[in-house]
Amino acid sequence: MNEQEQRKLNEEVAKRRTFAIISHPDAGKTTLTEKLLLFGGAIRLAGTVKGRKAAKFATSDWMEIEKQRGISVTSSVMQFDYKGHKVNILDTPGHQDFSEDTYRTLTAADAAVMLIDVAKGVEAQTIKLFQVCRMRGIPIFTFINKLDREGQNPFDLLEELENVLGIRSYPMNWPIGMGKALCGVYDRTKSRVELYHNDEHREITVQPVAGYEDPRIREMAGEHLHDELCQDLQLLDVAGDPFEMDKVLAGELTPVFFGSAINNFGVQTFLENFLQLAPSPQFRKSTEGEVEATEPKFSGYVFKIQANMNPAHRDRLAFLRIVSGKFERGMSVKHVRAGKDIKLAQPQQFLAQDRDIVDEAYAGDIIGLFDPGIFRIGDTLVQGGSFQYDELPTFSPELFCKVTVKNALKHKQYQKGIDQLTEEGTIQVFHSASVFEETILGVVGQLQFEVFEHRMKGEYGVDIMLQRLNYQFARWVVGKNIDPGKFRINSQLVKDKKGNYVALFESEYALRSALERNSDLEFLTNAP
Ligand code: G4P
Repeated sequence: MNEQEQRKLNEEVAKRRTFAIISHPDAGKTTLTEKLLLFGGAIRLAGTVKGRKAAKFATSDWMEIEKQRGISVTSSVMQFDYKGHKVNILDTPGHQDFSEDTYRTLTAADAAVMLIDVAKGVEAQTIKLFQVCRMRGIPIFTFINKLDREGQNPFDLLEELENVLGIRSYPMNWPIGMGKALCGVYDRTKSRVELYHNDEHREITVQPVAGYEDPRIREMAGEHLHDELCQDLQLLDVAGDPFEMDKVLAGELTPVFFGSAINNFGVQTFLENFLQLAPSPQFRKSTEGEVEATEPKFSGYVFKIQANMNPAHRDRLAFLRIVSGKFERGMSVKHVRAGKDIKLAQPQQFLAQDRDIVDEAYAGDIIGLFDPGIFRIGDTLVQGGSFQYDELPTFSPELFCKVTVKNALKHKQYQKGIDQLTEEGTIQVFHSASVFEETILGVVGQLQFEVFEHRMKGEYGVDIMLQRLNYQFARWVVGKNIDPGKFRINSQLVKDKKGNYVALFESEYALRSALERNSDLEFLTNAP
């Protein structure tokens, strides 16, 4: 790479922001995504993101199961341009389609936007996704949505962030009224008021002011709301956390924005602040140390494999996060695990509506690679090198089934199916440590079982039986004297595919008592 090319690479990397939105279903993720895409001109009409799913079902042959259930199993990627930035939004599937893919997608993001419903506060799925972001130490930005509805007191919400998630916060703006009385927000960083006109036009205007005590706010919002605003902000100035950029970048302090996605209120301010504060594509750890995004040589890793985009072709799509350098169509790269050179001929990039063939892409971008069955989750591709990126973490499953094959003659296909689907990351497989070896599947979302059953039949011709087990927790057990006898009451000791011991527990109580009884052992939530 010559000097000019390096300069171009640096510029392209600096422009990029790759993030995921984490939230509990119904908080408004689809709505917010759609508004962000509208700002970027990536879609023309509101309602397109939701429509997208429906349209895809009509025109393509995605998994039957998606059609039957009317949901999307894929986590897709959307890219748009905004004021000189290139923005990549990674969609993290929620609802019933919550799966390990949802978690793994977060490993491809450099920042997260945590979307919270002003009335409901921090909810279960948000907590789980937050913990994955926390584990990675990525910056987290909070958008508190649905300000046009009655919700909790903003101070209570901040306290909840701290008590439930353990993250401190810095409100970037502050509501002036809420629900029917919503008048606007006061922008603490720019000292201005964004007014929400609560009539049929829902117009939004911006009014610069000289601090929150400016009497003009009184004229706009009325005495009562202005007094409340002054009291709140005085309290924040005195007792709130100061804004510290290094803490934001370390994921220890979350900038908080209030708004209403559906009314497009506060969304643009959020986007602009986010683009300014969020980091450009970050380094990833590899067997040869940290690899920076501006490293001239192309490299990346597969974080997700989507099977059966078109069953007629049995094709799969491997989603690759580009970690460094520039990608060019047709380039040859090394598939490190396989020890082979491969040509990246027909990669796809993801926009709001279509999958386009991509000619070039840069660190921070996600590309979809046609996969004839050569990729596994975590595979590294590099140009002119042979290092590997750190393995993606294995997440602790929460739902378990015993699996048996209905027709014993199909055992070989069954084994092949299990092996491949484990490699793809559809399920985790455990074997009981007892004499009568049983196979136990573990997942984080119910749909993974359904996908597994469906694909075993569809692709491997194997009918299986799944019997739900009562376990709720899995912990990898590490230590010298692991005694299966100590895991018999409301628990069981099994082994994962690498032979590590894993203990399954029926309840939190069973887990706690095992911890007490085995103080010499370590219990890990992720595979060692
Ligand atoms: P999700 O992807 O996180 O599941 O949420 P989604 O955007 O689908 O939003 C869930 C519901 O919340 C939708 O209503 C949506 O219109 C509503 N919503 C999103 N943002 C706001 C907001 O700022 N204020 C208010 N009041 N509502 C908001 P729905 O009735 O379930 O669906 P729809 O019929 O409106 O599409």
